[in-house]
Amino acid sequence: MAVGLSFHPSVQQPSFEPRPQLKLEQFDDLVVALKDALGPSSGLDSSDVDVNALTRHMRTYDAREKGWVPYAMADPDLAYTRNLVDEGNGKSNLLVLVWTPGKGSPIHDHGNAHCIMKILHGSLTESRYEFPDSDKEKPMRLTSQRVHEANAVAYMADELGLHKMENTGDDYAISLHLYTPPNVAKSGCHTFNPITGERSYVPKCGYYSKFTQKI
Ligand code: SIN
Repeated sequence: MAVGLSFHPSVQQPSFEPRPQLKLEQFDDLVVALKDALGPSSGLDSSDVDVNALTRHMRTYDAREKGWVPYAMADPDLAYTRNLVDEGNGKSNLLVLVWTPGKGSPIHDHGNAHCIMKILHGSLTESRYEFPDSDKEKPMRLTSQRVHEANAVAYMADELGLHKMENTGDDYAISLHLYTPPNVAKSGCHTFNPITGERSYVPKCGYYSKFTQKI
C-alpha cells in the first residue's frame, strides 16, 4: 500500500506546486511583498516569521531600480541615519539606513528579532562577535568579518551572536533593514563595549525620518 499524507478535512493542506516568484521590479513592490509575507497569519513571536520568504523577496528586488532614493537621507554629522519606510501592519520595521563614509554602528544585539538586510548602494563591512561572558571584563571575541556588496542580502539574529556594521568606503553606503517582530523599536536593544564586553541598554533607537519626512 502506498503511504500517503492524510489530513483532517479542517486542516489546510500544503501546496506542493512551485510558488510563482513575484517580479518585484519597483521598490514599492518589495515593500508590499514583505508586508504580505508577514501578513495577518503571522503573530508577534519571532518563531512565526517565514524568514525564507522574506529573504527571497529581498534577493529578487534589484536595488539599481533606485525607488528607495526618497527614503535615503544622509547626514554627515551622524554615523548613520535610520529612515522608516514601513511598519508592516505593526509586525516589522523596514528601514533605509544611510551610512556616512568611515562610520558605523556600535556592537549590538537584535532584541530577539530577525534582521534581514540588503545593500542598496556601496558596501558595508559586518563584524560578528560572541556574546560576552557577563562576569568578566575582557575584549570581545570577533568570530567573523565580511564585506557585503551592493544587492547582497544578509541575515542576523541573536542566535548568531552580536554584530556591528561599518562603511569603510569613501562614499555613502545605503542599506535596507527589515526587523521583525519590531522588538527593538518597542523595547530598545543593547550595545556592547568591545574592550570590556560591558553591556549598555539603549531604550530607543530613533528615526531620522518617517515615510520620507524628516523628523
Ligand atoms: C540599526 O538598525 O540601527 C543598526 C543597524 C546595524 O548595524 O545592523
